[in-house]
Amino acid sequence: MARADQLKALLKSHSEGDDQHFYSVAMQVAAHEAKLGHGKLAEELRTLIDKAKRRKGAGQPIPISRSSGDLANLLSISYPKSRLVDMILEENLGDQLKRVIREQRHAAEILAHGLSPRRKLLLVGPPGTGKTMSAAVLAGELGFPLCQVRLDGLITKYMGETAAKLRQIFDATDHTCGVYFFDEFDAIGSQRGMSNDVGEIRRVLNSFLLMIEQDSSHSLIIAATNHPGILDHALFRRFDDVLHYTLPEKKQAVALLKARLTQTAAKGIAWTRLADAAVGLSYAEVTRAGEEALKNVLINKEKTVTEAGIRSMLEERKNITERLRQHG
Ligand SMILES: Nc1ncnc2c1ncn2[C@@H]1O[C@H](COP(=O)(O)OP(=O)(O)O)[C@@H](O)[C@H]1O
Ligand SMILES: [Mg+2]
Repeated sequence: MARADQLKALLKSHSEGDDQHFYSVAMQVAAHEAKLGHGKLAEELRTLIDKAKRRKGAGQPIPISRSSGDLANLLSISYPKSRLVDMILEENLGDQLKRVIREQRHAAEILAHGLSPRRKLLLVGPPGTGKTMSAAVLAGELGFPLCQVRLDGLITKYMGETAAKLRQIFDATDHTCGVYFFDEFDAIGSQRGMSNDVGEIRRVLNSFLLMIEQDSSHSLIIAATNHPGILDHALFRRFDDVLHYTLPEKKQAVALLKARLTQTAAKGIAWTRLADAAVGLSYAEVTRAGEEALKNVLINKEKTVTEAGIRSMLEERKNITERLRQHG
């Protein structure tokens, strides 16, 4: 092939995106140079072609539509089996969750009368008090997919990009009915790897809140935060309900320990006295202490878990928590 023809073929295949043909012409050029005795140039060309092929291969688009590819980075989807009975809840909070479930189950009637079932929820409270679990329970009870928004995928160096990604998520709430869970949503305005400008954070957070307000889908939208301090009243207005999560009181601690341990517990455990040792711990920490006590029983090949065994694990948790608090 003459050089001019080769050049034309290269340009044509490049403009048509025909990589196969492009590489094959390029290889012909390399072979031609080799024949002319330009061994070094031929070798260089082959190396360049190999490199180009490898680079292309790595970034090859997968044959799913671009939007669903992007969404896969933004949402992690699961189908939880969790139920409300799995949760130990303070009475008010239990009622609030039941009400959401009831209204959703009667959504058709409610909508037919021009009303809307509550579906935009703000969950506020310290870590380990059941916010994430509640999102899973709502999905489980209603048979919805749980679509957890991945903050690491959402937050980028660029504010504009974060807003565009949020838009994609709110488009999804329309076409895929589910429980959309924005955990630690107060981080949404903060940029990864950059000094955070408070004004900018507010702007992105506000556009997020506006998207919540304007969302007219049938999906549940749940936002959770550990930092009630940063929230103002304008924010609460955008939600149909605000659920407050607190550390367990003695009553809930007893219920939590019993739920996990009664099957294996020795007779005559004074649960209420034991719960004194749990005061100050979160639901997650009490649960964990119970599980540690059970593991000890297994390891030591004992038959039952004792009051002393549970107490020492509760105290261990407390020590760990206190030490973390001192350092944090
Ligand atoms: N109210 C609760 N009832 C029963 N278990 C709970 C409750 N809250 C938390 N837990 C336990 O603690 C774990 C962590 O709770 P999680 O929902 O992740 O807390 P949060 O999202 O508020 O930080 C749960 O998976 C569950 O085992
Ligand atoms: Mg959580």
